Amino acid sequence: MIYSRIVGTGSYLPERIVTNAEFAARLETSDAWIRERTGIEQRHIAEKSQASSDLALEASRNALRAAGVSADQIDLIVVATSTPDYVFPSTACLLQAKLGIKGSAAFDVQAVCSGFVYGLATADVFIKSGQYKKALVVGAEVFSRILDWNDRGTCVLFGDGAGAVVLVSGDKPGIHASVLRADGSQSGMLSVPGNVCGGQITGSPFLQMNGQGVFKFAVRVLEESARETVAKAGMQLADIDWLIPHQANVRILEATARKLDLPREKVVVTVDHHGNTSAASVPLALDEYVRAGKIRPGHRLLLQGVGGGFTWGSSVVTL
Ligand code: ACO
Repeated sequence: MIYSRIVGTGSYLPERIVTNAEFAARLETSDAWIRERTGIEQRHIAEKSQASSDLALEASRNALRAAGVSADQIDLIVVATSTPDYVFPSTACLLQAKLGIKGSAAFDVQAVCSGFVYGLATADVFIKSGQYKKALVVGAEVFSRILDWNDRGTCVLFGDGAGAVVLVSGDKPGIHASVLRADGSQSGMLSVPGNVCGGQITGSPFLQMNGQGVFKFAVRVLEESARETVAKAGMQLADIDWLIPHQANVRILEATARKLDLPREKVVVTVDHHGNTSAASVPLALDEYVRAGKIRPGHRLLLQGVGGGFTWGSSVVTL
């Protein structure tokens, strides 16, 4: 049996930090409101010159270095993003060129904040089938580009960044199980309902959200998905060392952990200093805890995404 295994993680955050105080200085909001409702204290925002592929490149280089794998050994690149550099070509193809390699398969996955888990599960299936041996799976986002910076209900929630993992084939799991789900009937709950058409933007180029609807939906499906995926992996929730949920809002993370009866110390939290970085949030959080020596080889992880679509999914992974 062939399995896939994460052998290196990496991430990148743009230098510029935007604190809650900066929003409070120009919008009707406050540091206290943002902290209490979301747990967010600051987020990183990319420079105008930085696109998702640039953030992805830095995160990928760090992951490759950590894995001891050179870029030319990679035969599959999957980039999860909802803020691609262009309509096309894919950000994965642009990343491939920036890495200075050719010939590997390269494509984007669009599942908004579930994108990294969707990408990881996709690469896992390709590796298990024997088709590819070394994959780079990246979540990279510049959500700052699709926010209405005058809408206090949304602009305070998000940040930019990228995270990456190197997956290789081997005879030990690795990725034990993944479950991906979607409900397109909920597409209006969180969307950027715009497009480029005839040389103009049609619809809205800004993120729109039903915050309370998202909150309730996310907590429900994260619980269901955790239970289903852990059972598929033949494990119990008590076997999980770390829950790494999509970092949307600290109250969603706490509510999910309570429902799953997981102690707070097992829940990875980075949303306070990253904000919600959509598809980048899970690999960014993973890498931060790996680099801090908290998540170590042999630990069992439950990675979870939930986001627009609506989409959601989980993977049970032994590092
Ligand atoms: N500062 C001050 N007041 C604000 C702000 C702000 N930044 N944003 C909204 N408000 C106001 C509203 O205008 C409203 O005012 P009103 O009563 O005068 O109309 C009041 O606060 C309450 O608004 P609600 O939307 O009911 O506030 P709620 O308690 O639901 O908190 C929040 C809003 C934080 C967005 C919450 O619903 C939430 O966390 N939802 C989850 C959304 C999320 O995480 N989205 C991320 C993308 S989805 C994903 O990643 C899965």
